[in-house]
Amino acid sequence: MEKISDNLCRYKDYVFFHGLTTAEYMDSLQSFEIRDSDVFLVTYPKSGTIWTQQIIISICEMAGGLNEYPNNLEQMPWLEYKEGRQDYTLRPSPRLFASHLTPTLMPPGLKEKKGKIIYVMRNPKDNIVSYYHFSSVFTALQVPKNFEEFLEQYLTGNIGGASWFDHIRAWHSNKDQYNILFLNYEDMILDLKGAVQKICSFLGKNLSEAAIEQVVEKSTFKTMKKDSKANYEFLPKEKLNGKFMRKGQIGDWKNTFTVEQSERVDRLIQERLGDLNLKFIWE
Ligand code: A3P
Repeated sequence: MEKISDNLCRYKDYVFFHGLTTAEYMDSLQSFEIRDSDVFLVTYPKSGTIWTQQIIISICEMAGGLNEYPNNLEQMPWLEYKEGRQDYTLRPSPRLFASHLTPTLMPPGLKEKKGKIIYVMRNPKDNIVSYYHFSSVFTALQVPKNFEEFLEQYLTGNIGGASWFDHIRAWHSNKDQYNILFLNYEDMILDLKGAVQKICSFLGKNLSEAAIEQVVEKSTFKTMKKDSKANYEFLPKEKLNGKFMRKGQIGDWKNTFTVEQSERVDRLIQERLGDLNLKFIWE
């Protein structure tokens, strides 16, 4: 991996936090065998990953057949960060994984439409503000001097997860190769039950109305904040010195962005992703 700053290193088209994984492990994913029952939740960081993780896990629990794990991270570990966990190839099916990776680094078996991918996108202005705050509480990240500096790193892709624009483009432009469902954080906020139903149907899980309501209840911001298996407060203080569950809103960016910064992001979206005709909900 090529070191690009004290806490970041680049490998192929992705930027990792230093020390959390290795090039050898990334390469090993190229021969990682995908099972038809595998589910991958893929996001750019701070796009609603742990929220969607809670929804998918709750749906699979209701449908039955999941092994028990102490928390959502162990139930749906990050593909790219194996840490002290057992070999993922030994995990019983159905396996659930979360990932922030680009298509380049993902196991190629997914392109044979084996397994299922749920990709969640968030409007980039709220994504930036969420990431900015997270940088001060997740200790693997460098605390930014100020928002201006952080915005620059984000817009140039010198940040964990690499460029948001490239991530969105890579997943959208390769979508025909995958068995993939695209969701938006904002649509999930506006209609959580609708999102749960979409995920159920994509995963082929036929849940009763009452079970769907239970999944919705377990996945609200208020419930998740108190759910010790889901809120990531189980991480040691040396890793997380604050909260994942911060505000959980659409439009918080307005409290941080200047008009000029907002217009710059609008221009970049148009220049870099205009042809994808993405729809963003900003408030
Ligand atoms: P904010 O920082 O804007 O509050 P990720 O899991 O990808 O790191 O994303 C974290 C963001 O998702 C945080 O956004 C967090 O509050 C939000 N989030 C987590 N659970 C949520 C929920 N149940 N409803 C809405 N937002 C949620």
